Amino acid sequence: MCGIVGFAANDDIRKKLLSSLRKLEYRGYDSSGMSLKIREGTLNIKTAGRIDLLEEKLNSLYLCDDVKTGIAHTRWATHGKPTQSNAHPHTSFDGKIQVVHNGIIENADEIKQMLSAEGIKFVSETDTEAIAHLFAKHYKGSFVEAMLKIRPLLAGSYALAILAKDKPDSIFAVCRKSPLILARGENQNILASDISAVGNEAQLFTVLGDDEMAVITKEDISVFTRDGKKKQAVFIPVPEESTDITKNGFDTFMRKEIDEQGGRVRETLQEGIKNGEIDVNFSGLPVDFLKNIRKVHIAACGSAYHAGIAAKYLVESIAKTECEAVFASELRYKDTHFNENDLMLLISQSGETADTLAALRKAKENNVKTLSIVNNTLSTMERESDFVFRTKAGAEIAVATTKAFSCQLAAVYLLSLSLAKAKGMLTKEDEAGAVDTLNKLPVYINSLIQKENEIKTLSKRLSLASSVFFIGRLLDFAAAEEGALKLKEISYIFADSFPAGELKHGTISLIAEGTPVVAIATQEKIFEKTLSNIKEVKARGAFVIAICFEKDAHRLSFCDKVITLPDTPDILSVSLSVVPLQLLSYHTALLLGNDIDKPRNLAKSVTVE
Ligand code: AGP
Repeated sequence: MCGIVGFAANDDIRKKLLSSLRKLEYRGYDSSGMSLKIREGTLNIKTAGRIDLLEEKLNSLYLCDDVKTGIAHTRWATHGKPTQSNAHPHTSFDGKIQVVHNGIIENADEIKQMLSAEGIKFVSETDTEAIAHLFAKHYKGSFVEAMLKIRPLLAGSYALAILAKDKPDSIFAVCRKSPLILARGENQNILASDISAVGNEAQLFTVLGDDEMAVITKEDISVFTRDGKKKQAVFIPVPEESTDITKNGFDTFMRKEIDEQGGRVRETLQEGIKNGEIDVNFSGLPVDFLKNIRKVHIAACGSAYHAGIAAKYLVESIAKTECEAVFASELRYKDTHFNENDLMLLISQSGETADTLAALRKAKENNVKTLSIVNNTLSTMERESDFVFRTKAGAEIAVATTKAFSCQLAAVYLLSLSLAKAKGMLTKEDEAGAVDTLNKLPVYINSLIQKENEIKTLSKRLSLASSVFFIGRLLDFAAAEEGALKLKEISYIFADSFPAGELKHGTISLIAEGTPVVAIATQEKIFEKTLSNIKEVKARGAFVIAICFEKDAHRLSFCDKVITLPDTPDILSVSLSVVPLQLLSYHTALLLGNDIDKPRNLAKSVTVE
């Protein structure tokens, strides 16, 4: 997804713009650009490719003065190829307005047709250029008045930063269904798509609400309501984790974040364990509501959806409550039968994923209580949910999620147990056992990271594969799904995941001599069934990498490689098996020389449909 940043400062901002853009790289992009206010007017620099190319262009220009006001952008192409002409900022027909944009204008073609009929020439394929021309057409000196005129004409989502020729010291900002934060620093004011891009430059920040507007200068940040009335925005301290965006000595953010997950899981679990007991109120959901929940609907995307699959099995087995996990992109359009005693659980690291946000809004339209498990501070989902549980993963920069996923699992353990407790299904003994096991989870996770060298030996074989299959049943299927996605998204090797019992209904025809199959077998009650499935693929020549508890290793000795997990109760299995799966994908991608933190085509948070 695109990234926006802008500074209005007392000193030169060029390096700050570049540094902030680099902190937005994790969102995924294919071009970048900036508009700088200089003595002669506005300087626009943009380029396809990496930010290094933008920096080269900027450094090749000798500017006699400091640049104190400017905006910059990383583009993840939605309309038009990743070319220089499509890169942002986009300039209006009269040259007086520059715009950078994150989002999608769904009626851009109609706007383009209307403006072209008035003689305005378009020079790019983007929807953003239409905004630049439309704004210039209505701008007569007041940002708010111009926005109030064009807002009804814009359909879709947008976070905009705008420069105007007649206001050389100001940056205009507005957003709808696409995040934008405003931050106060020392002798500077800032706007950005998310706080992690500028956390080290600011002390206080606030989130611009949907359709709210702002005018930023180095002295002040003026915020206006959707009706154009000035409002006093509430600024809060920048979170600590948003100021420390470094690799801490690791080669990649992903490897750093794999290493951090044990401690982050501990911090997350502690939010729901008080005095050695499960805090039934950890999510904020009232006990009276919890104990009467008839069904839990879960909506999420990608890895968060895999945490949702795990949640489904845990809610059903621990809280004996009906539960369904659905892709958010499906739930937002399908017929879902909600009841008043249902809970809609949304899971999202960014809290900005468009499909998950839409599922949240659909649940609310149906008067269903919503609980969001999010990681990012002050996300849109957090603001719109009835109840929120924020995981303690901290800022996650790598596009491929690891520690945030593990913290989502920690959150769903807490939810399942608190639901069971509220329903009177958790004996004191079971509760004490569960708390003891959860308290040990971070140690188990860290012990698995120590197996890195053993796991790394398998990466060569996987790096040569054209396809890899991941199989498992019940909770192990959730892990299989996550393992397949991790491999695909950073190694670009085709991978697929199946409930182990499903393989023989077709896909087993793809198993040939040497085909790698990662088989996860931790669930005791169906271990023998999974064992049979593993033998089926082994019999057809598969190279089987088995993941199981230490106590079961001997039962899988016929496999080509067995990765063992510390013996724990089944419910924790996904948190454990995902660690070797993360490392397996990491080292395979490393061997292939891929960009681990910024895989091709991917964005950290998909804020468009
Ligand atoms: C996972 O590694 C991917 N980065 C992706 O599948 C991600 O989990 C998905 O886009 C959901 O993002 P969210 O958690 O921010 O909603």
